[in-house]
Amino acid sequence: MTVKLRDLLQAMAEAPGTSGSALASRFGVTRAAIWKQVKVLRAFGAPITARAGHGYRLDAPLELLDGRRIAAHLREDFARSCPIEVFWQIDSTNSELLRRAQTGMSATTACLSELQSAGRGRRGRSWHAPLGGGLTFSVFRSFSSSMAALAGLSLAIGIGIVRALTDLGYGGLGLKWPNDVQVDGRKLAGILVELGGDALGPCHAVIGIGLNLRLDAQAGTPIDQAWTDLASIPGVPLPGRNVLAARLLGRVLEVLDEFEQATFAAFVDEFARHDVLQGRAIRVIGAGAERAGMAAGVDRSGALRVRGATGEYLVDSGEISVRQVSGAGA
Ligand code: BTN
Repeated sequence: MTVKLRDLLQAMAEAPGTSGSALASRFGVTRAAIWKQVKVLRAFGAPITARAGHGYRLDAPLELLDGRRIAAHLREDFARSCPIEVFWQIDSTNSELLRRAQTGMSATTACLSELQSAGRGRRGRSWHAPLGGGLTFSVFRSFSSSMAALAGLSLAIGIGIVRALTDLGYGGLGLKWPNDVQVDGRKLAGILVELGGDALGPCHAVIGIGLNLRLDAQAGTPIDQAWTDLASIPGVPLPGRNVLAARLLGRVLEVLDEFEQATFAAFVDEFARHDVLQGRAIRVIGAGAERAGMAAGVDRSGALRVRGATGEYLVDSGEISVRQVSGAGA
């Protein structure tokens, strides 16, 4: 007999300070079995403290994801048109929706997971999030258009994330082309858009979002760039994870509708208001080559405009690093 990790975590979140023996009798297992599962939860990054005489408690409040609660906070038409599935653990929410795209599903579908065993970032990187310390989810959307018409989609999704966080009272949010949401040059969220279907249409997009909520130094260790989390942004109490997921999902669905109607062209001005690269000296790291220049905004298809020594050129994929100018940079 073993206790499910989710149930144990939920019990500790609901009743901080419950002793090992109380948990053991509640779940009909031994104290040793509770301890064994606590060690597993800790290895996943759950901030559990155990002190003799004080029971188990979480160092930070934790709200587990619940599809019905997320749907209840969504606009009614979105809640009706977008099935939401919540996993405890999966390899990757993007991979799951890509797999399902092979067999067919609702035109818009959302998938969230508390844990990803193989979370993926852009350019072959991994995405790490401690249990309860982040939000990791993906949205599937089918389009009748060609894949070419989806140029700039990941930038538009970034705008959706900024809108959602602004609704919740956060400020100082920036977008780093093509897909990072930043605060003070530190990455808060990343977006991974993967396309499938017929290049000439119909096609589909799986849009994956990873957002840092509360990361400690240990959770941040595998991240190979400057990072931040929502809990470190002063002045705004950290929202519950279900409300947060609903706000993000709602804005993403809204952006998808706008994008489908009007392409990225409709978002150019809004992107410019959050563009952290604008006017900065950058290096464009592409397939095997690097080019330097000055970032000059994005065009109507979401390509980055760069002013180089020989004139302006467009970049539609790649990695950007901000060049160190008089001690500044990221
Ligand atoms: C990046 O910044 O490199 C993109 C990160 C995207 C991570 C999210 S987490 C949910 C979804 N599932 C994945 O495996 N990746 C995306």
